[in-house]
Amino acid sequence: MAAGKGVIICQNKKDAIKALNSIFNDKAFGSAGNKVVIEEFLEGEEASFIAVVSKDKIIPLVTSQDHKAVGDGDVGLNTGGMGAYSPAPIVSDEIHQKILEQVMQPTMKGLIEEGSPYLGFLYAGLMIKNNEIKVLEFNCRFGDPETQPILLRLKSSLVNLCLAAINNTLDSYDIEWTQAHSCGVVIASKGYPENYESNKEIQININDENDTKLFHAGTKYENNKILTSGGRVFCATALGVDLKEAQQNAYNLVDKVNFEGAFFRKDIGYKGIK
Ligand code: GLY
Repeated sequence: MAAGKGVIICQNKKDAIKALNSIFNDKAFGSAGNKVVIEEFLEGEEASFIAVVSKDKIIPLVTSQDHKAVGDGDVGLNTGGMGAYSPAPIVSDEIHQKILEQVMQPTMKGLIEEGSPYLGFLYAGLMIKNNEIKVLEFNCRFGDPETQPILLRLKSSLVNLCLAAINNTLDSYDIEWTQAHSCGVVIASKGYPENYESNKEIQININDENDTKLFHAGTKYENNKILTSGGRVFCATALGVDLKEAQQNAYNLVDKVNFEGAFFRKDIGYKGIK
């Protein structure tokens, strides 16, 4: 995880030459910039595809999409993710099948052929445009904050899913999901994704509420108080009959949490609703 440091997105040839000058001549990245990799410029919409893999067996989780930029309308610095929703409408049934056949299964088989069969969660970060899929990255983990809306939709047991993967019995495992949509909004500390403050006391005013979950991330419990201890502090996650309702429920939950310097995006899910 390098927060995109060393990556320059060039919109045209002039920008590309400027970037190369700053790397090679001005040594913007020191000796780390003695070699550069130039990649195809990818346009489209990002989606996350996470599956449980057990050697030669695979169960895809429900689809999800996160919002990486810090600001509303997807502007500003990239973060680990300011919120996410599930399902991701960009992943149609046809695209889903393509991802399985063209990305996940060949990766799983390739790992076996290389003598490194995989066991665990495999996350493909994808760029999708006009039904074409490009792989941006693989992560050997769940996604954050994609996991929170995904897990809220999981009706069967996560532990039993993990055990089925460990025992290589995924092919007979029945994973159960709710058809409801879910949305998770990250509540962050002022300054994130750059320097941020910690140790702010948190007030949470939640009664027993159905179909919502406030996931803690950057928090700690000290002297009977809950304090902030990270950039992304919570993910307020909720279900709804559709994404719009899930979004509304998630923002209702956000309103029940307060600490000095708390901020969040106001438009998580807008791409899916559109
Ligand atoms: N949300 C992006 C990631 O988990 O890598």
